[in-house]
Amino acid sequence: MRYEVVLPAAGSGKRMGAGKNKLFLLLQQKPILIHTLEVFQNDDNCTGIWLAVKPEEREYIQQLLDEYGITKVKGLPNGGEERQHSVHSCIKEMEQVDIVLVHDAARPFITHEIIASLVVCAMEKGAAIAGVKAKDTMKKVRDGVIIETVDREDLWMIQTPQAFRFELLYEAEDVAEKEGFLGTDEAMLVERLGHPVHIVEASYDNIKMTTIEDLVLGEAILKKRA
Ligand code: CTP
Ligand code: MG
Repeated sequence: MRYEVVLPAAGSGKRMGAGKNKLFLLLQQKPILIHTLEVFQNDDNCTGIWLAVKPEEREYIQQLLDEYGITKVKGLPNGGEERQHSVHSCIKEMEQVDIVLVHDAARPFITHEIIASLVVCAMEKGAAIAGVKAKDTMKKVRDGVIIETVDREDLWMIQTPQAFRFELLYEAEDVAEKEGFLGTDEAMLVERLGHPVHIVEASYDNIKMTTIEDLVLGEAILKKRA
């Protein structure tokens, strides 16, 4: 089942503290951004990639695309202040497709199997996002004191990809913009329309490269796969 993917790549990687966009850091000698792009480049069901970029990084990213043979990129619109704005700038440039995925460029370990499950689920139900069950006991804390222990059975840690019927995400982004609502993921924007969002169980390997420790973990995941 075919889809196009939006990859927000216009962050600054502050928590990584590398002094540059963390997506340019290397894992096994290859930029994180390229690891992520290659997953979609090599997925026959992916018919187009949209990359939100910082204007001052567009030229360098274009060079990387050429160097690594990434040919599916259909557009590199300017990212915005927040991740949601970056995603929206891609959605606005896209032509109508059946299914659109949004995936953090900073999650290089996503697999074709999980993507396929998400696409099928989004096709059937409209909205599907990747997540894993919480592993630790979770407690709600205020001012350093526990308020309650939350039932772990109900808790999922949410990742990307998040997959939607195109019109549904388009409307959700549009409404959020008009109402000045800022969400932390795309599902939140769809939830507020009252549309159910389904969870597809993904993998604990599908980490987001966020802090310096994640680089060590990332190298270990690549080693395990080799
Ligand atoms: N992103 C984006 N536009 C923004 C902010 C983030 O396109 N204004 C992208 C990042 O490039 C990343 C993804 O959204 O691929 C997830 O964001 P995050 O992990 O928070 O990355 P950064 O914002 O770069 O990192 P930090 O929050 O530590 O600065
Ligand atoms: Mg961020």
